[in-house]
Amino acid sequence: MEGRHGVGPHPQPWPQGEHFDPELLEHGDTRNVVDAYRYWKREAVVADIDTRRHSLHIAIENFENDSNIGTVVRTANAFAVNTVHIVGRRRWNRRGAMVTDRYQHLLHHDTVEQLLEWAHTQGLTVVAIDNTPGSVPLETAQLPQDCLLLFGQEGPGVSEQAQQGAVMTCSIAQFGSTRSINAGVAAGIAMHAWIRQHADLSRAW
Ligand SMILES: C[S@@+](CC[C@H](N)C(=O)[O-])C[C@H]1O[C@@H](n2cnc3c(N)ncnc32)[C@H](O)[C@@H]1O
Repeated sequence: MEGRHGVGPHPQPWPQGEHFDPELLEHGDTRNVVDAYRYWKREAVVADIDTRRHSLHIAIENFENDSNIGTVVRTANAFAVNTVHIVGRRRWNRRGAMVTDRYQHLLHHDTVEQLLEWAHTQGLTVVAIDNTPGSVPLETAQLPQDCLLLFGQEGPGVSEQAQQGAVMTCSIAQFGSTRSINAGVAAGIAMHAWIRQHADLSRAW
């Protein structure tokens, strides 16, 4: 079960189409999916999102098993991010993803170097996100269209190597006492900054 809410068994006659899942039509669909995807097979949902994924990629460093990755994946799914890249440890806590990882392309890289090399081959411009000295305000920065936003983890933040490989590091303006905000929250803010600059809002749900 993917959510408390949902719809029950579909009344007869059932809708026609390859994308419908007979199991869901028969037993109901309690997944946390938008209404447009009710009773759809998972692969059909992924294929449909694939037709309008953004040229935005997200990467998060995972060298100490970061519990924020689930939150990042869920938000990336909501914004139809192309791929979420996990750098470092393969294992991450899927709880916060709320099953959205089943509809989101994920790619693992052992090292930051491998991630940067991959981004280069794909023609993506890497932007690190952290509030380190020398960073530029995200609020006024122009983000690249074909973009990979790279986040650090609780504690160390974005690694030196990641910042070296990025065209710039963008910071989110803060006004209180805390040194930083939660990485999952920071990722949501930064993803939305890209959405505001590049997404076709007429295609949002
Ligand atoms: C908890 S922070 C890392 C620690 C931070 N560098 C420090 O000095 O304590 C974890 C990650 O969240 C993101 N982050 C948190 N606050 C941010 C901010 N104000 N601006 C940009 N990124 C931020 C960055 O990606 C960062 O690497």
